Amino acid sequence: MQRNEIINWLREDDTGRLDALWRLADDARRQHVGDAVHLRGLVEISNYCRRSCTYCGLYAGNAELTRYRMTPEEILACAEKAAEYGYGTVVIQSGEDMGITADWMVDVIGRIKRQTPLAVTLSLGERSRDELALWRKAGADRYLLRFETSNARLFEAIHPSLPHERSDRFAILRSLRELGYEVGSGVMIGIPGQSFDDLADDLEWFGKLDLDMIGVGPFIPHPGTSLGASAGEQASPEQVPNTEEMTYKVLALTRLICPRSNIPSTTALATLNLAEGRELGLGRGANVIMPNVTPVKYRDLYEIYPAKACIEETAEHCCRCIRGRIKSIGRTLGVGRGDSLNYRPAATAVGPSTNSGEVS
Ligand code: 5AD
Ligand code: FES
Repeated sequence: MQRNEIINWLREDDTGRLDALWRLADDARRQHVGDAVHLRGLVEISNYCRRSCTYCGLYAGNAELTRYRMTPEEILACAEKAAEYGYGTVVIQSGEDMGITADWMVDVIGRIKRQTPLAVTLSLGERSRDELALWRKAGADRYLLRFETSNARLFEAIHPSLPHERSDRFAILRSLRELGYEVGSGVMIGIPGQSFDDLADDLEWFGKLDLDMIGVGPFIPHPGTSLGASAGEQASPEQVPNTEEMTYKVLALTRLICPRSNIPSTTALATLNLAEGRELGLGRGANVIMPNVTPVKYRDLYEIYPAKACIEETAEHCCRCIRGRIKSIGRTLGVGRGDSLNYRPAATAVGPSTNSGEVS
């Protein structure tokens, strides 16, 4: 897709023409990945984080937050529950918690792989290449690391580097590919300071990185964060709105640019529209849902943004809810692990030399 077409769609506000975009994305989804919706059980294993991201409620300095880290036994129980519900994958997610050591994680991955048939996806933030290699060897199949925005200056502003260590998520995505992971990334939509040009760049990067999984969701201001507190202050005509409609546009364009990728209808989208956000996402490009299987007692402590969908519902409730929603729109439940059709082991990837090195 040409750059100017991407920009034109992002700026389109005619509902008739947007209907055509939704149809194009839905047709591409059906043709390339079919009607099956793959389910991934999400376990939020720890809310400790060493980072100070200005958008996220888990930032290190948030003294209001009670921190938790699940035990290996608790994580195993969640994985077993996910398998029982017929989910093909468990997604192990946490803040950037250095209390999660390489060996601890190797043990957890090994136990899940021995005791369940699940694919294991990790989403544990920016970790060293050695750790990523060990976890891959222990049996982890996939890794999710959103680059959040390809605008290096904006990324550094909302995600300050650690002292003595420049963040470079594009380099990590390349390492993940070399290590043989199925690679997932994505962005937030409507970050204060994010322009239409930035977002078009992000979409072009999805294609160039040849991603196997792509998660996109609206930026949702968290009042306890600096970015959340100032959101909406200096909106310029170039500012991307963090709306539901903009999210659908990005979702649909993502499907058109990366037709064979696995693309979730995200919880952030469901949060903007509890009644039918998930379904509309599935009808406009998405083919994956990640129902939460975290024990209810921990859910409200994993508050990356406020009023997150499914905070009070049990894993069992969400399982039934999601199945009903998939059925109601005439789609089918995925069987098996739902590996990305885009995945080619040891494919070579490209990326910019850095996503934070250009900051002056
Ligand atoms: N609004 C929307 N998404 C957020 N994330 C973190 N904080 C927010 C927020 N305030 C997303 C980031 C991260 C993913 C786990 O959650 O994109 O990569
Ligand atoms: Fe959790 Fe519907 S998916 S309540």
